[in-house]
Amino acid sequence: MCGIFGYAGPDVNPEILIEGIKRLEYRGYDSWGLCVASKDRLSLLRRVGRIGGVDATALMLGQKGAAQAGIAHTRWATHGAPTEGNAHPQVDCSGRIAVIHNGIIENQAALRSTLESKGHRFSSETDTEVIPHLIEEFLATEPDFSAAFLAALKLLVGAYGIAAVWAGEPDCVHVARLGSPIVLGVGKNRTLVASDPAPLVAHTRDVIYLDDGEAAILHGDGFETRTLEGAPVSKRVQQIAFSLPDIERGGFPHFMLKEISEQPESIHNAFRGRIVRAEGTAKLGGVDLALLRKAKRCHIVACGTSWNAGMIGKYLLENLARIPTQVTFGAEFRYSHPVIEPDTLVIAISQSGETADTLAGIREAKLQGAETIGICNVVGSTIARECGKGIYIHAGPEIGVASTKAFTSQLVVLSLLAVHMGRMRGLSLRAGLLYLDALEKLPDQARQLLDKKDGIAAIAHRYAGFNNFLYVGRLYEYPTALEGALKLKEISYIHAEGVQAAEMKHGPFALIEPGVPVVLLAAQAEIRDKMMGNAHEIAARQGRIIAVAQEGDEEIAKLAADVIFIPKTLDPLVPILEVIPLQLFAYYVAVARGCDVDKPRNLAKSVTVE
Ligand code: F6R
Repeated sequence: MCGIFGYAGPDVNPEILIEGIKRLEYRGYDSWGLCVASKDRLSLLRRVGRIGGVDATALMLGQKGAAQAGIAHTRWATHGAPTEGNAHPQVDCSGRIAVIHNGIIENQAALRSTLESKGHRFSSETDTEVIPHLIEEFLATEPDFSAAFLAALKLLVGAYGIAAVWAGEPDCVHVARLGSPIVLGVGKNRTLVASDPAPLVAHTRDVIYLDDGEAAILHGDGFETRTLEGAPVSKRVQQIAFSLPDIERGGFPHFMLKEISEQPESIHNAFRGRIVRAEGTAKLGGVDLALLRKAKRCHIVACGTSWNAGMIGKYLLENLARIPTQVTFGAEFRYSHPVIEPDTLVIAISQSGETADTLAGIREAKLQGAETIGICNVVGSTIARECGKGIYIHAGPEIGVASTKAFTSQLVVLSLLAVHMGRMRGLSLRAGLLYLDALEKLPDQARQLLDKKDGIAAIAHRYAGFNNFLYVGRLYEYPTALEGALKLKEISYIHAEGVQAAEMKHGPFALIEPGVPVVLLAAQAEIRDKMMGNAHEIAARQGRIIAVAQEGDEEIAKLAADVIFIPKTLDPLVPILEVIPLQLFAYYVAVARGCDVDKPRNLAKSVTVE
């Protein structure tokens, strides 16, 4: 949530800063701003709405050539409405200190009133504004800006990723991290900072991930890293694994469609090199065998789409590996007093690896002595690092706010984990091989589904005017129903509810009236007849069925107004294929309704506040 970009180097200009935050726009996009520092002067620009070139260049023209450092921010509002006044950077009374911030300062009210009593004048409703005023206050007593910066941070309670510039030292950017990600980019004659590596790759592939409790001073010709107490720390330079084309739209109208279309490759990448045919199992380098062997139960912690993947993971682990598994929302984990026994394995699932609630869950689990593993996409992300062990899903950068390819890759990895843990607990070689064979067929089967996208677009157009949808499914298709409904609601703003099919009779059936669209997920062989029963019950009440069924199931097709067939696979793997038409359906409905598919209202890609 909120994107931070900063640049120290002699060639800094507003275009570079705008380009940087545009690559972070998926983190928050209600307002934006930037600040360029030159000798004894800061030039500031703040705007509401999507990031544009607008008047930035003209406004900053006077700075060109002279500027030596700059910071820019794209905001997802927490404190205060999205207005120009609340956009970042926020400044002190003198207008010589500018700060951008991602996170929440929980004690801002107390700090603000103390500062006001000392004569500081506030001009925004943000929690962030206390930071430049605090630094201003300490600048009067501390020996230099860096000391004033660290002294101010000591008073903050909450979470932050911060970048600051000061007119008195215009060639530096000061940054710090506590709970919100900060990555440095080490380039030639420039040092950069961002809240994730995406905007850095245009300048350098050498990065340094700051840990919580660390700060840095960036100059054009280098950087210094230190703790928040001011002690020097040396950090490892790492290489970003992706390149510029990976984070561009590549001819697709939206990132979401690009990412849906990438699934044959991303599914493949999730199991590539991990299948051990001779033993009917998987090789998962990031987790040691002893850890998986000794686990008596698993506890999955995740949010949103990753939580839906976790629910499917629960069925997979219980079915294939016979390990009792519980799934908890990240935000509930800490407060629900989870029972963590010495042999409980806690698994965090997170595309971004930065979701604050999931991270808080993992920290709680570690506090209670649990072994933790992460299933993450973003390499080097906080959850991946804090778990210590884990399995990367290798889906490549996911930029559309609605998660698509990360979901299917999470499911592939969870399937591999279940086969692997299953083989340690009595799953036969033959059964292991059956799953591995079925996994290997998925990329081609996903391709077949993508070939149907025009047909799915035609169905979506017929339903784009409806305002309520039900998605129903059982067993593996119940979390798939939740995920299908989530995709539709988040990008098209249509009310959609995922329901366990048998639960329809216990309440939701009251919602069925003639013409109500019901997406009926009926592609699992084992419970197909039960779903047929549901189809009859819905049809009897004139609900309008959009069925997703196994190829050749003409009986279900007869009861449905529309049907999408998916290729045959094993029941536990059905969601990996079935979700693809659901993603496409949501996408085309949203496009037909004129919604901003990649940046749905009120949402952000990386939810770094609790
Ligand atoms: C929905 C979506 C969100 C995320 C959730 C967790 O399409 O993207 O529900 O799944 O915010 O994010 P990660 O997986 O990054 O922890």
